[in-house]
Amino acid sequence: MRLDKFISKATELSRKEAKKVLHASEITVNDEVVKDGSVHVDEANDEVMWVGETLSVATGNRYILLYKPEGFECTLKPKEYPIVTELIAVPELTSLRIAGRLDVDTTGALILSDDGKWLHRVTSPKHSHEKVYELTLAEPMDADAQANAIAKVAKGILLDGDYEPTKPATLEFIDETHARLILTEGKYHQVKRMMGYFGNKVTELHRASIGGITLGGLEKGDSRFLTEEEIAGF
Ligand code: URA
Repeated sequence: MRLDKFISKATELSRKEAKKVLHASEITVNDEVVKDGSVHVDEANDEVMWVGETLSVATGNRYILLYKPEGFECTLKPKEYPIVTELIAVPELTSLRIAGRLDVDTTGALILSDDGKWLHRVTSPKHSHEKVYELTLAEPMDADAQANAIAKVAKGILLDGDYEPTKPATLEFIDETHARLILTEGKYHQVKRMMGYFGNKVTELHRASIGGITLGGLEKGDSRFLTEEEIAGF
């Protein structure tokens, strides 16, 4: 399938809008920037990404929640670590795509599906679905530092290398080294970079929920299909 057609099938973009994001160098195919919409992509084997999110066209309708353990990569092609789909026992694993990747050392709620348009609704900042992260910090933050960070995060901060500030987000401190950050977007390494902005380092990171869907009774490494109600919530 042509790349521009693939993008418009996998997102809410028209073919014309797809060409614009291609020209803006926002699309990668197998980690290489591609600007030419006429390039052919293999839907099952090529990894097409739009500003960090994997795109896919619907080939079935599976909607899965996985409790991602540490030590697994959110990618289609393993590099250093085993990949998260190895944890899921369903057929045609290669057609599953991930909504909002987690780093190798991050644990928590990961949603996978083979319904591209639905996945895009889950991750697109336009739809503002909340992702709740629980984090541990290397350096304790006292009351003043906490108040400053809460206020800045609520307004949005400009992270190194970005052109636009982060969307307004909620930061809550549990104590001086533990916090909860609620985001409605998913920039690359966003939580770690946001805490880095305040001169701190995240030592543990866990995603507790996405769009209100929590891990419930799942154990690390376990998965379940989402309910119809959960699917319709996005
Ligand atoms: N932000 C990060 O920095 N890492 C993740 O895994 C998820 C969000």
